[in-house]
Amino acid sequence: MSIADSFLKDFHHVATIGATEHRGVERQAATEKDRETRDWFVAFAKERGWRVDVDGVGNIFATVEFVPGAPAVLTGSHLDSQPRAGRFDGAYGVLASLHAAAEIERRVRAGELQPNYNLVVVDWFNEEGSRFAPSIMGSSVYTGLMDREEILAVRDLEGTSVREALDGIGYLGTGEGPRELAGYAEIHIEQGRILEREGIELGAVDSSWYTQKIDVEVLGEQSHTGATAMADRRDALVAAAQIILMARDICAEFPAESLVSSVGQMTVEPNSPIVVNSRVHLVADLRANDPAIVQQARDTLMERFQEVAKREDVEVVARDFDIRPNRYFPQEGIELSERVAKDLGFSIRRIQTMAGHDTVPLNTATPTVMLFVPSVDGVSHCEREFTKDEDMVNGLRGLTGVISEMLTG
Ligand code: GLV
Ligand code: MN
Ligand code: MN
Ligand code: MN
Repeated sequence: MSIADSFLKDFHHVATIGATEHRGVERQAATEKDRETRDWFVAFAKERGWRVDVDGVGNIFATVEFVPGAPAVLTGSHLDSQPRAGRFDGAYGVLASLHAAAEIERRVRAGELQPNYNLVVVDWFNEEGSRFAPSIMGSSVYTGLMDREEILAVRDLEGTSVREALDGIGYLGTGEGPRELAGYAEIHIEQGRILEREGIELGAVDSSWYTQKIDVEVLGEQSHTGATAMADRRDALVAAAQIILMARDICAEFPAESLVSSVGQMTVEPNSPIVVNSRVHLVADLRANDPAIVQQARDTLMERFQEVAKREDVEVVARDFDIRPNRYFPQEGIELSERVAKDLGFSIRRIQTMAGHDTVPLNTATPTVMLFVPSVDGVSHCEREFTKDEDMVNGLRGLTGVISEMLTG
């Protein structure tokens, strides 16, 4: 079987794990379906005799050892997903990395390539941050940007901690990832529509947007929806509704598409049709290329939230959360991607990422290369997310070329 065929066979198989009704997947971090996908990853590595290490925050590392004791080129992405998600976000990058590693190992054995480094494929724990916040967890702990003990204590909405959930699926490890890195490479679907619109096969990511979240708790008073006079209500949900609109409407105060903002998560208590709600927790997600725009929007929102609190006679406790400064990816990696694309006959353009990726923390620790392949209609974090087989295979070839160069560089 050709490398393209065996990659596609595995990709479409993995997409059956946690498959949803409309060709998506649901494999939130450290759930049973995440475990099944992880087990598949481990089996792939073990069948080839690669060493598998699971670290103390559930990251899985599969090592293809070429030069004992040498630093590693690391490559991978994440197998976890958003709720009712697409089957490409994350999994594509992990499967492409595994198959690139298998092909590189074959080339090394055949004497076609002499690496100076080892090659490690990684599945990062909880990139998505849907069940456990913040996102990009495993790679942030690995790079020292987040504290492992604090992360293990994070709880989901049911009260289960990261430690309990990882232990429950058998992936709270005692091993560790490579200590010394020669570089990190990741491939991902674009999740936007630039490559598709321009008919370009690959994107070389040159930078990431500035992102931050605002965690908001609205505290009112629980009371009877019939018996409480309108003037006496301290309705947390009515205040939250205004906050949600403010978080959206602030974007219109800046140049078009320079700021994006949404409230994506909300919990309402006690959430009964006959009760004025006493508590709402919500998270707003603000992103812009220009950090000053996010900061200005954030400051304005913080003031307006307090105006809502006054008007609605509730308390609003808002705090900054999960701030990620812009990252600029090294020029050499971008030029390497361009050279590899040219050799393979693929068109390529430089591109920014507005979505978060494990490359964002990794780039603080080691030179990082990130490639994108086109997304049909630019949709992601939904079942309709789609990338053509041909585009995935092009990306796999590009990634294999990039990693080969990084190993010999
Ligand atoms: C998570 O998927 C993100 O893009 O931040
Ligand atoms: Mn992703
Ligand atoms: Mn995602
Ligand atoms: Mn992401």
